[in-house]
Amino acid sequence: MVDDPELKGGRLDASVLKKEDLLDYSEGDRIINISIIGAGYIGLTAAVVFASKGHQVICVDTNKVKVDQINQASSPIREVNLDDLLSTCVNVKKNLRAYSDYNETINSDIVFICVETPSKTNGEIDLTYIRNSAKEIGQALAKANAYHVVVVKSTVVPGTTEGVIIPILEEYSLRKVGKDFGVAMVPEFLQEGNALHCFLNPDRIIIGEYDYRTGDMLQEIYNDFSSPILRTDIRTAEMIKYAANAFLATKVSFINEIGNMCRKLGIDTYEVAKGIGSDRRIGNKFLDAGIGFGGPCLPKDLEALINRARELDCETELLQSVSNVNKKQPLKLIEIARKRLGNLSNKKITVLGLAFKPNTGDVRQGSSLKIITQLLQEGAIVKVYDPWAMANAKQIFSGSIEFCDNVLDAIAGSDCIIIATEWDEFKDESLYNGKTVIDGRRILNPQKAKQLCQYYEGICW
Ligand code: UGA
Repeated sequence: MVDDPELKGGRLDASVLKKEDLLDYSEGDRIINISIIGAGYIGLTAAVVFASKGHQVICVDTNKVKVDQINQASSPIREVNLDDLLSTCVNVKKNLRAYSDYNETINSDIVFICVETPSKTNGEIDLTYIRNSAKEIGQALAKANAYHVVVVKSTVVPGTTEGVIIPILEEYSLRKVGKDFGVAMVPEFLQEGNALHCFLNPDRIIIGEYDYRTGDMLQEIYNDFSSPILRTDIRTAEMIKYAANAFLATKVSFINEIGNMCRKLGIDTYEVAKGIGSDRRIGNKFLDAGIGFGGPCLPKDLEALINRARELDCETELLQSVSNVNKKQPLKLIEIARKRLGNLSNKKITVLGLAFKPNTGDVRQGSSLKIITQLLQEGAIVKVYDPWAMANAKQIFSGSIEFCDNVLDAIAGSDCIIIATEWDEFKDESLYNGKTVIDGRRILNPQKAKQLCQYYEGICW
């Protein structure tokens, strides 16, 4: 993936994944019975990929609506090509079925735990879903008569699998890890918006194994992936996941801090990023300056790692700064708006983009949300549009902002347009003719935009 020319600035181009690639998998030698617990981004993607590779897969989720949707071959999450592949597995191959009952996992050789680990207010991860899953799997294991492997794919801080999950599995199964069942931690590195492509083509597969027997069994299902496999112990695998996300977050906050300085100096941060990124020790990915990183993973994982360090009495000056820079970054756009418009009270401001990045409807921890909240606090009249994320944003801002049906309605009569997500449809320069535009994602060419717009300013350029 690293050398893939179709990857731009650390973001995967959704067009990289072609439909014909998806429907032409070579099937593995042995059909393995796999259970996936949790049908979110990671769980459903894993289920669909393993089923498409010929394995027999069941998905377990406590949400019955999701279960029905999956069985009707309609994906509960929006991801490029997921519906097509789900339909092939459910209706044609007939090797993927969803249930709300854990007892169905008894016949599986391998059970993947893919449930959410949301944040508590102090940054710590909430293990409620993990504990419930471990308990239910433990109870199912108690009735099983073959050797099973339980794989943790949810993101859990180092020590959780051994300290929390294994004891629960042993307690409820009355069986012994290493003897009666195996446990592994296999972190997932997929990016939302191109989940299938990422799952199929990871830069590496990390198998954090309790013992060799477990690792060997898992290696069997990953053998027909063309990615290198690194086998480690469980804690190391847990840490690799956090360290990877923390490092990506660090790159983004780094370039944003440099970018804030560049804007004041009249320097284009994107040129600087190109200049430093071509040093292979630095690399050119995740150096797109803008309004900061959002989403359900990077911010949450960073806080969880900081919190874990606090528990261990370790200092995290760097990670704390990465988080602080990111919290302030979306507000830099508001500063630019104030500089241009003065007091924002009663000013009509359009925010284009609500999703934390393109090709997803996910708004969690999105920088747009922080921008809108601040605009409302300052008394602005806010209009928004996003191609996929309107329903999710309505749950947060219903009644306080105007949700427009299309981009043209959103920008009509506006005093200022803020570009917050780099959707393709916002790249049409003609939309901005004669308008005041503040670009948070470098979606427009600054030189052209300065000629076209009445006023154009980028956050870091
Ligand atoms: C991230 C990681 O990239 C995945 O490897 C990981 O598996 C996933 O978290 C996870 O832990 O589940 P994701 O949350 O889908 O993936 O989103 P990213 O593509 O990493 O983007 C995160 C945020 O950073 C977005 O808001 C994006 O706009 C921002 N970003 C990214 C930048 O501002 N600049 C960049 O150069 C790259």
